[in-house]
Amino acid sequence: MLKAKITGTGSYVPDKLLTNKDLVRIVDTSEEWILERTGIRERHIAAKDQTTSDLAVEAARQALKAAGVKAKDLDLIIVGTCTPDMFLPSTACMVQLKLNAKNAAAFDLNAACSGFLYGLSVASGYMSSGAFKKILVIGAETLSRFTDWQDRSTCILFGDGAGAVVLEATTGSNALLYTHIKSDAEYWDYIQIPGGAAKEPATRAVVDKRLTKIRMKGNETFKVAVKTLENLVVETLEKCDLKPSQLSLLIPHQANLRIIQATAKRLGLPMDKVMLNLERYGNTSAASIPIALDESVRTGRVREGDYILLEAFGAGLTWASALVKW
Ligand code: ACO
Repeated sequence: MLKAKITGTGSYVPDKLLTNKDLVRIVDTSEEWILERTGIRERHIAAKDQTTSDLAVEAARQALKAAGVKAKDLDLIIVGTCTPDMFLPSTACMVQLKLNAKNAAAFDLNAACSGFLYGLSVASGYMSSGAFKKILVIGAETLSRFTDWQDRSTCILFGDGAGAVVLEATTGSNALLYTHIKSDAEYWDYIQIPGGAAKEPATRAVVDKRLTKIRMKGNETFKVAVKTLENLVVETLEKCDLKPSQLSLLIPHQANLRIIQATAKRLGLPMDKVMLNLERYGNTSAASIPIALDESVRTGRVREGDYILLEAFGAGLTWASALVKW
């Protein structure tokens, strides 16, 4: 059976930096609180004229170059995002246009922070069915556009960015070995942007009430995230018949250092086997895992034959994992 192999990675973050010190001037918080409670020091913010597809295209170009694949040879483009350029057309179609990937199908996938891994899971299905041979999966977000800059409990968390991978069909064993996706909408209201869409169209009143911005029950989300991810990583390794000691690297969604530490502890994994970059980027939602993967590849933390576990948790609630043999 054909499997999906990651043959190229890329990432991009906008130039503008927003540090914890900058945030102290905006909301009632402190640099120490943010760092201690989240692990974040700074995040990148898109320029006024940059949209999610712009960030996505920068990451995609790097991934295509690394893979040695031409945009015109792509069969499919999936963009995991919850902050699209527009409702219509999809951000993936804008990426297709900007890359001139004439021969691809393109669609967005919204699973919030789990979006990139949901994308990998969908792509791996298309590969094993034989439908597509070259797929670009991107996670890209401009969360800053949907951040409530008056809400200190959320505005400290998010950053903008994009990461991308090129997947190619292979009969070899160095490939995406396993993906798992799951949702539990019982907790749909833990993380939401309630207004600006069909339920609450963007009237002046809706905008004034800041209903077009992200709202999160942070502490409740934190508790479900820890419990869910602890089980998820154990179950993923069991499914793949692997012991934690066989893992070379855990690449978690970069939402909160304390959540990541709890997940690593459950596996008995030392923190030097965990990829961390949320200190520099904050929570970039669907972009966080492909950015971290690209950095791991480019800094030589990933070598041929390594087993890498990816895991994410986000609004929906949604969660997902993937096991890659590099
Ligand atoms: N500065 C100072 N104090 C603050 C700040 C701040 N920026 N934000 C909140 N506080 C205060 C609160 O008001 C509260 O004060 P009180 O005790 O007087 O009421 C106190 O700090 C504790 O607040 P909590 O919300 O309980 O803080 P917690 O330790 O849970 O940390 C955080 C908050 C960082 C949001 C954490 O809950 C978290 O990371 N949650 C999970 C986020 C996540 O994983 N989301 C999923 C992905 S997001 C997506 O899908 C788009």
